[in-house]
Parts: sequence; structure tokens; C-alpha cells
Amino acid sequence: MTTVIPETSRTALIDEILELKAERGAAILAHNYQIPDIQDLADVVADSLKLARQATEVDAERIVLCGVYFMAETAVIANPDKQVLIPDPKAGCSLAETIQARDVRRWREKHPDGMVVAYVNTSAEVKAEVDYCCTSGNAVAVIEAIPRDVPLMFLPDFFLGNYLREVTGREMDIWLGECHVHAGLSPDVVETKRKEMPDAELLVHPECGCVTSILYYLNHEGKIDNHTRIVSTEQMMLRARVSEAKRFVVATETGVLHRLRKENPDKEFFAAAESAECRYMKMITLEKLRDSLRYLRYEVTVPPDIAVRARRAIDRMLAIG
Ligand code: 13P
Ligand code: SF4
Repeated sequence: MTTVIPETSRTALIDEILELKAERGAAILAHNYQIPDIQDLADVVADSLKLARQATEVDAERIVLCGVYFMAETAVIANPDKQVLIPDPKAGCSLAETIQARDVRRWREKHPDGMVVAYVNTSAEVKAEVDYCCTSGNAVAVIEAIPRDVPLMFLPDFFLGNYLREVTGREMDIWLGECHVHAGLSPDVVETKRKEMPDAELLVHPECGCVTSILYYLNHEGKIDNHTRIVSTEQMMLRARVSEAKRFVVATETGVLHRLRKENPDKEFFAAAESAECRYMKMITLEKLRDSLRYLRYEVTVPPDIAVRARRAIDRMLAIG
């Protein structure tokens, strides 16, 4: 549910945030799923890969991460010298919740020579147990960097894992986790929208429930034409810019529509499902961002022993793709 703030207090809040941001020497990093007002205020708006990179490059004393908790933890791990704040520490991720560090250790006991690749949507404790991190923006490149004869486990997203298995032809164990928002973008939901707009290009995030069937048709029946791209949220921005299509159906969290529309005013973008909203991403509001800067809260920390181990996997991710 989105709260509507009267225009005058909204403008006052935005001015206050900009003033506090300057006073505090803070940079605001926002994920592509954040509400439009937060995206418009941020120094960087990006997908999780670019946010992790920018966290190491941004020239500021502290970072306010407008996104979900694992993104703030990743920024802390990649940046031990900066203070990282999140406006609401309860902004979690249902996908990251599906796996714990002990699950990774159990797999390793059975596969002592194996390697584990974790999607960035995982806790710092899980990252500390794995060999590589990846995001949807570089997952294929990460899988391809691992020798083919090494037993492999991908976690925690089943749909992304299945996509990786199909695209790389690589056998791997895949954790059966899913994101409630993306799993809901099922074959039926996306197919209905595609039928309504047969001329539109379809941009699909690889966590979506429809990805397995899209790949099946692409590979086996040739039913899906060149109008479909399976891409991360940042790759959606690039694709929308270069594509000759004028209309796009977008299968991911609806927050991406703001940037797509802003950057491409001559094109039209439609949600595959308006209901695809991440309640965790939407927990970050202007008021909470203002209070985060005003009271320097909530600082995100990661125990040093976990951070050191998790950093290996994050650095490997940042070095690839
Ligand atoms: P991106 O890697 O495209 O930023 O997606 C992150 C995410 O949480 C997907 O739901
Ligand atoms: Fe997690 Fe899904 Fe929200 Fe992304 S959209 S942050 S995967 S719950």
C-alpha cells in the first residue's frame, strides 16, 4: 500500500532530506524497485550488482541504502570504512529468508570438492559460507567461470537456477527457494498480457515464475520470438533504450516502471501484473529516509569474522561481468 503525502509537505520533506544529506555527507543509493520519490532523490538508482559496485566507488562518508537489508549488508561488507544506514531495518527479503548458513554447510559435507554460488539475495551469514556471489546481472558469467567438472550448488532462487542450468548447459544442484513477488509472475499471467499486446517486447526478470516455460518454448518450440529478453533490472534499462519496440511488457516488481518511463519518454511500459509489488522495498518511505539522515539510524553492521569470509565471495562477484 502506498501512502499519499500532500504536495506541500512532500516538497518540504524532500527539501529537508536534501539539506540533511548535505549536512551528513551522505550518498543515497536506491534500488530500481524503490518508490519514485526516493528514486528521484537518490545519487544512484540501480540493480543490486551496480549498487554493490557503487557502494565501493561513491565518494561520501556514509551511505543510506534505500533497498532491502541484504543490499545494505553487502554495502557494509564491500566498504568496511563507511557507515551504512538503512531507513527501515525490517525491510527484508522473502527469498533470502529461504536459506540459512547451516543449509550450505550440510551440502558441503556431502560435496567436499564442490563449489557454491549464492545469489546476492542472501544474508551475510550465508555469503560467508559460499565461494561466489552473483546477481541476475552476472550470474551466467559467474557460473561459466567455474570449471565444469566441479560439483556445483546454486542458491537460493529456483527459477534463476533453472534458467542458469538451461543457458549454460551446466548440471547443478538448485535450492528450491523463490521470491513471492516474482513467482507470482507465472506463465498464465504473462501469457495473458502478451496476448493483449502482441506487438510489445517482453522484458522478464529471471526470478519470475514464467521463466522456465519461456525458455522451454524458446528452445523447443520456437513459439516465443525475438521480442523476449530475460534480463536483470539494470539490463532492462539498457534494453529499453536500444530496442526498436515502442511498447514493453515488464515482468518484475513494478518499481522499475518509473525509471523506464523517465528515461524513455517516447516509449510505453506496462506491468505484466500491477500486483507485483515487493512490500519490503516499499517499506522505505520519505519520512523514514529523513529520519535515517536526521538520527543517523539504522546503522547496519556485520560481525568482522562473517564480513571477512563473505567479502571473498562478493569480491569474486565484483570481479566478474
Ligand atoms: P536485480 O538483481 O535485478 O537488482 O534484482 C534484485 C531483486 O531483489 C530481484 O527481486
Ligand atoms: Fe526479495 Fe523478491 Fe523483494 Fe526482490 S522482490 S527484494 S527477491 S522479496
